[in-house]
Amino acid sequence: MGAQTPVTPEKPEQGILPPRVREELNVLREKAKEDLEALKKPEKTQLFKSMFRVKHDESERSRALSVLTNVFFHLHPAKVNRDAVRYSYTWGMGGISFYLFIVLTFTGILLMFYYHPTKGQAYRDIIYLMSDVPFGKLLRNMHRWAAHLMVITVWLHMFRVFLTGSYKKPREFNWCVGVLLLVFTLLLSFTGYLLPDDQLGFWAVTVGTNMARATPLLGAEGPLGPQVGVTPYNDVHFALLGGSIVDSNALLRAYIWHCIAIPVILSILLAVHFWRVRKDGGISGPAPVQLESEMKPERKF
Ligand code: HEM
Repeated sequence: MGAQTPVTPEKPEQGILPPRVREELNVLREKAKEDLEALKKPEKTQLFKSMFRVKHDESERSRALSVLTNVFFHLHPAKVNRDAVRYSYTWGMGGISFYLFIVLTFTGILLMFYYHPTKGQAYRDIIYLMSDVPFGKLLRNMHRWAAHLMVITVWLHMFRVFLTGSYKKPREFNWCVGVLLLVFTLLLSFTGYLLPDDQLGFWAVTVGTNMARATPLLGAEGPLGPQVGVTPYNDVHFALLGGSIVDSNALLRAYIWHCIAIPVILSILLAVHFWRVRKDGGISGPAPVQLESEMKPERKF
């Protein structure tokens, strides 16, 4: 009988596995240990730091830092990376999306003066606005075009953030806030569709909300829906429309979501988004470029 490698009970794989696999296992074990330690002190984790303000250390410099890095004490950042604010880097799409949101809010408030969210009256209000109200056509079209453009610019902004890798550490949390911003921008656009109460809006919302019937657990025709007691009279489709078909209740619900709830949610998310851009050290930016004029002349001996 030849000598056999002793197998310890804690690490039974030691005698069997090739050295490379054993090394990888050790790395994984170390990583798991670190993760466990992090769970004991969640405020030290990267996830926590990407969401909340980080306390500075107790040095003299930290007192200045806590003022300079605070958005409320010091609205503008103390330093800006020149290359990070170039349009060729940001495409300006975040800023343009925000500008369009302001235009939409302003024109939307003006539109509310001429609109009643009731069946029949809503469509007549739009006809009146387009034909009789001074600058009514311009007002409505400014709102419509700004809405279409905002959907496009938010997508482009997200695409730029992805291309420049700005979703990575320390900006993970802001990326998630951004995803919510995208969802609510699309919902804002969708709920506005029904408001003119024309054929286009009616069928768009009929098709759109019909999809909700197939939602898992929440839709009467979705997976597991009927099993948990969801019927066509208490499912998410019914809740969205306030009934079984697109009618006066649906119009009122779309109006309230469109004019109050979603704009308020978007405004709160935008405030968090901008605050996080600042707290994450400003716009990510490419590696700084040194201009020729800034280069030190070569020393000649
Ligand atoms: C209503 C929609 C949105 C508005 C108004 C908005 C606005 C902005 C602005 C003004 C900036 C500063 C830099 C820049 O302009 O590029 C920014 C940065 C950022 N946004 Fe948005 N954003 C929106 C949606 C989104 C979406 C959909 C995502 C991604 C899912 C996102 C993720 C980010 C990230 C990660 C940054 C930091 C980028 C960096 O540091 O380079 N945002 N946003």
